[in-house]
Amino acid sequence: MRILNIYHTTTGNTLKVAEKINQTLLDLGHNLDSFKAGKETKIDILGYDWVFAGSGVYGWLPGIPMQKLFGKLRGEYAEKGLIKPGAPRIEKKAVIYCTYGGVHTGINEAIPAVKYMGQLFDHLGFEILDEWYFVGEYLSEKMREMSLSGRLGNITGRPNEGDLQEIEQKVRGIMRV
Ligand SMILES: Cc1cc2nc3c(=O)[nH]c(=O)nc-3n(C[C@H](O)[C@H](O)[C@H](O)COP(=O)(O)O)c2cc1C
Repeated sequence: MRILNIYHTTTGNTLKVAEKINQTLLDLGHNLDSFKAGKETKIDILGYDWVFAGSGVYGWLPGIPMQKLFGKLRGEYAEKGLIKPGAPRIEKKAVIYCTYGGVHTGINEAIPAVKYMGQLFDHLGFEILDEWYFVGEYLSEKMREMSLSGRLGNITGRPNEGDLQEIEQKVRGIMRV
């Protein structure tokens, strides 16, 4: 089974999650490819049976490099006729994840980011097995106060050891599907 983990991280929170996913998959005996989305990223997600895709949330959406990559892929697959009316299902699975701070409206401001990423896979016919939301503190100096006083309360240090353990358990659980 070919597995891909594609992610974007600006301040390192999603990187921690991505690394935990990767380590757990390796511990389970799987091989995988893992990439941080960037300008030069050339990737064929249809070459994989199982894809994990994640990003930090910025202005309710995934980071710009992830948006650009997904926009480019959507165009390429559409041109090849692989995005079909009705989006017929194919034998592939995806798990979409994010890290978010949720200072204003909690998880509601992270949902559009996860739905955005998921749509590329849904359009191609992947089964989206799950959507994972992990809390990530605001690491920009100017936004420090937001880690203390928002809808989610004090999120300093997140994702923390407990979050990482939860991620490991989620990966172990979903790989039994
Ligand atoms: C400039 C900036 C904008 C952000 N915008 C949002 C937002 O709209 N909604 C949200 O829930 N979190 C927001 N966050 C919090 C990040 O999503 C959170 O810290 C996340 O874990 C960052 O992931 P990364 O370190 O992998 O880039 C923002 C953080 C920064 C620094």
